[in-house]
Amino acid sequence: MGRMTVKKLVGLKGKRPITAITAYDYTSALLADAVGFDVVLVGDSAAMVIHGYESTLPIGMEEMLMHVRVVARTVKNALVVADMPFMSYQPSMERAIENAGKFMKLGAAAVKVEGGREVAELVSRLVSYGIPVMGHIGMNPQKFNVYGGFKLQGRDKEELLKDALALQDAGAFAIVLEKVPSESARYVTERIRIPTIGIGAGPHVDGQILVFHDVLGLIPGMEFRFVRKYLNGFEIMKEALERFKGDILSRSFPSPEESYE
Ligand code: KIV
Repeated sequence: MGRMTVKKLVGLKGKRPITAITAYDYTSALLADAVGFDVVLVGDSAAMVIHGYESTLPIGMEEMLMHVRVVARTVKNALVVADMPFMSYQPSMERAIENAGKFMKLGAAAVKVEGGREVAELVSRLVSYGIPVMGHIGMNPQKFNVYGGFKLQGRDKEELLKDALALQDAGAFAIVLEKVPSESARYVTERIRIPTIGIGAGPHVDGQILVFHDVLGLIPGMEFRFVRKYLNGFEIMKEALERFKGDILSRSFPSPEESYE
């Protein structure tokens, strides 16, 4: 199949669902690529699932560059998309272009910015300089303070469509639709040429994405209606670590086979 490109990804619309997941480090990138996801997003959700913050706002370029560097170096087949963190693109066009360029230099194939009409001009500038852009509308986690929480957005499907069309016209190659009613997601998906990738947007989108740690149940207490948890990873790993600790205490580790003469 070869490496996923922006062009190939757009060509999947209407053919088969696009598969996407987040990754932040060597292990998650290795796993995501071994499974063969189309898109690996180095999400600013790293702030919450890697660094333990309660929102995505605290993470900055320094940490995101570290995550993008290792994921881009590890992934061989998927399209690697780097998420632009809060205040890395809002203050000025120059700062946004410079920061997006830093991700591309590390090997990302595209960047993602949150927002609709308000970022259209930025999207168009980035694309014109050779930086493909994935849009992100509906519930934008970077705006949770304005919403008063991570609340459902996009009930007004006409407004959502205006944002999606603005991004498409600006040259975005795909759009993440987050936490919107299924009917709004369907309305937008059927009216734009570029793929929509849903997270909490129901089934009528062109693809689905979830956060790596949510799929594998790695963080206790993080439960969302739109997440399907495929593993109770935290409990399984905890149990393995408890057994290791027990073996140290009982001196059954290491055995002669695990030792050198
Ligand atoms: O940061 C992230 O992980 C994201 C996805 C949830 C789409 O933006």
